[in-house]
Parts: sequence; structure tokens; C-alpha cells
Amino acid sequence: MASDKPENRFSQVSSWTGKKILLGITGSIAAYKAAFLLRLLVKAGADVQVLMTAAASDFIGPITLSTLSKRPVLSDIQSESNWNKHVEWGLWADALVVAPATANTLAKMSQGLCDNLLSAVYLSARCPVFVAPAMDVDMWHHPSTRRNITRLQEDGVQFIPVGHGELASGLYGEGRMAEPEEIFAFLTAFFARGKSAELRSPLAGKRVLLTAGPTYEPLDPVRFLGNRSSGKMGVALADVLARRGARVQLILGPSAEKPKEEAVQVWRVQTAQEMLDKALELFPRSDAAVLAAAVADYRPAHPATQKIKKTGDSLLLELEKTPDIAATLGRQKQAGQYLIGFALETEKEEVHARAKLQRKNFDFIVLNSLRDAGAGFQVDTNKITILYPGNKAQTYELKAKEEVAEDIVDALEALVDKENIR
Ligand code: C5P
Repeated sequence: MASDKPENRFSQVSSWTGKKILLGITGSIAAYKAAFLLRLLVKAGADVQVLMTAAASDFIGPITLSTLSKRPVLSDIQSESNWNKHVEWGLWADALVVAPATANTLAKMSQGLCDNLLSAVYLSARCPVFVAPAMDVDMWHHPSTRRNITRLQEDGVQFIPVGHGELASGLYGEGRMAEPEEIFAFLTAFFARGKSAELRSPLAGKRVLLTAGPTYEPLDPVRFLGNRSSGKMGVALADVLARRGARVQLILGPSAEKPKEEAVQVWRVQTAQEMLDKALELFPRSDAAVLAAAVADYRPAHPATQKIKKTGDSLLLELEKTPDIAATLGRQKQAGQYLIGFALETEKEEVHARAKLQRKNFDFIVLNSLRDAGAGFQVDTNKITILYPGNKAQTYELKAKEEVAEDIVDALEALVDKENIR
């Protein structure tokens, strides 16, 4: 991977050529700057379709924007046919950029409201979404705006940082929309990363869900049942997937590890149930899920609300089964979605792993055995065998977990390439 230096090879090719951009403009005084951004995008070679909210047209005229974009501007007061096209626009675009994004539009987006064309397109968009917020300092810091921003970030929306300085209100502080050149640079960096990954990986732009780390199942407010998983393998996988251009959503149990790649979105969870809830929320929109978490199989059936006292000589714990995340997702898996699992075994490794492959409806399973020196928990190396349906198997040498992650992602790429993920 490292030897073919993809960045150099593609530096001559503009990452903008032929890119289809939806530029959403909302009702802010900063709307006039959207014209400058539009010009930068068009000059770079992008095909830009402008979507305006009704309020935006109080700040900037559609004629300016349609002249610059060489396309009719779509706004709220549209014919029936345009309204019905929101799904098409959502699918057409390589990116949706909302600049300026008002507090109102951010609130709508975070709640899933779709009472205008822009918000309907947002809900239909499968492409990456960027917002460049613009608002007064108090609106920016309001708890309600903060909540909406956190929620949108969790949904994968990328925020172009606001500036600090004098605002249209005369107040001073945060909330100023980033300058058009800054927005353009932010987007260029995104597409440049995607471009180099895109040309070598069929996973570029795909949504990949990952579970990693242990789970902690509470016994009482201070104690839990856990396991020795460090989360290293899963976090290494997250980084490799992100470097190949995938949009990685990582659900991470209690682990000291964290991904190096900023693009990885991380949700921290504690229990198997929390991991399942998040996975169920994210899986329907994922192209693949890699389940590397060491999920507890059993949890205390009646966790105590107060600390358990040292009263008797022995203590009997009643345990109940946790939900099987893999099996649940395996049942929900649709054509075009891929599910990858792990099996850590101590005996009859292949027989047990093959049974899981089938029971959980995996496309392949990564087997590691605790009998192999250097494999398993809390170490930096691993030795794996990948088992496929129909008796196919591939065995790998003992390697650093980062290299093992490369092998696993190669195997996923090969699947996706062959069957052409949706
Ligand atoms: O059955 P076992 O726990 O050994 O299966 C391991 C595989 O199933 C791993 O991919 C693990 O992440 C997943 N799993 C799960 N939910 C569980 C138990 C395991 O997703 N409750």
C-alpha cells in the first residue's frame, strides 16, 4: 500500500472535475458570500445546482446564482415536478453543501423536518453533507443549537468551522460563516482524500459500521462483568477503512484505544444492549458491518441498584443472555450489504467458527485462536484465518494488528469489488 504513493500519481488531476455539488443557501446575511463560493466551485470544474430556501431570496437574488451556476435555481416556490425531484437530487449529488446554514435550517436537519425543498433533499441525500453555519454569537452558543449540532455530527454531517469576529448584529464572537475560500479549501481537502482512495478502493464513499472493544455489564453501581478485549483490532480496522475512503462509524465499548483518523465517527457504549441499539440505528444505512467487538454473552439478570454488601461467604449470580448483535444484523441484512464477524476460539476452532459463519449470516468470519502464540487480547499482534461460506479458507502469518487490519479490509474489498456493492 505505502509503496505506490497514490497522492503523487493523482496530484495533476483536479479532484473537482465533474463533481456534482448541491449548494444549499439559507436565509442569512452571509448568503451573499455563497455567490463567491459558487464561483470558486464552478471555476474548479464542479457542476453546481443551487437550492435556496424562501428566506435566502431576501438576501441574494436567484438571477445572480443561476447566472454563475448556469443552471436554474431551485427554491421553495417550485412547480410540482421540482418538488417531486428531491429524491433524484439527493441521489445525483457527490456532496451537499449548505452555506450559509442558519440555526433554523440546522434545527430542521437535526430533527428530520422536511417542509422545504432543501430539507427534503437533505433527507434523501446519500452523499456526504457539509454545513457552514452562520448565526449570531448567542444563537451559536444556545444549548438548543449545541444539541442540534451534536446530533447532526452523530448523523455524519461535517461542520466547516465558524469564524470569530464582528457579526452582522454588531456583536463580537463566534458564529461568522467561514470565508468562501476556507469552505472551498475544506471541500477540496475532502475530495482530494477521496480521490486518491477512490481510484484504488471500492470501499471509498461506502458506509462501514464497526463494533469493537469489550462490553461491561453492570452488577451493581460500581462493579461489572467484562472481558479482556482491548479494542486494538477494531480500532486498527477503523483507521484502515477510513484511509481507504470509507465512511466509518465505530461503536466502541470501554477501551483505552481511539482511532488516529479524524474521519472515523465514534460512539462510546458500555453494554451489549447499548451496542445493539446503536448498531440497529446505523445498520440500515450501512453498506457493510464489521463486528469485531467482544460482546458479553451473559449479563447479570438483576443488577443491584445499590452496592452489593459483603454479607455471606458466597454469592450466587444469576446471569441472562445478552442480545446477539451479529445474529440480529444477520437477519436484517439486505442484498448488497455485507456482514463480517470474528471468532475467538480455544478448541475445535474451525468447526465452531464455521457454525457461527452460518448461524449469524456472515459473508466471512475472521478466526483467531488463543492457542496461537501472539494472537488474541491485549497483544499487538494477531494470527488469523478467514473462513468463507462453502469451505473456502485463507490462513495468514502472525502480524502486527495494523497489518492484519489491512488483510481483513483487503478481503472485504475483494468481496465488494466482485459483487459490486450498491
Ligand atoms: O458467538 P460469538 O460471541 O463467539 O461470536 C463472535 C462474533 O459475534 C463476533 O463478530 C462478535 O462481535 C459477534 N457478537 C455479537 N453480539 C454478541 C456476541 C457476539 O455481535 N452478543
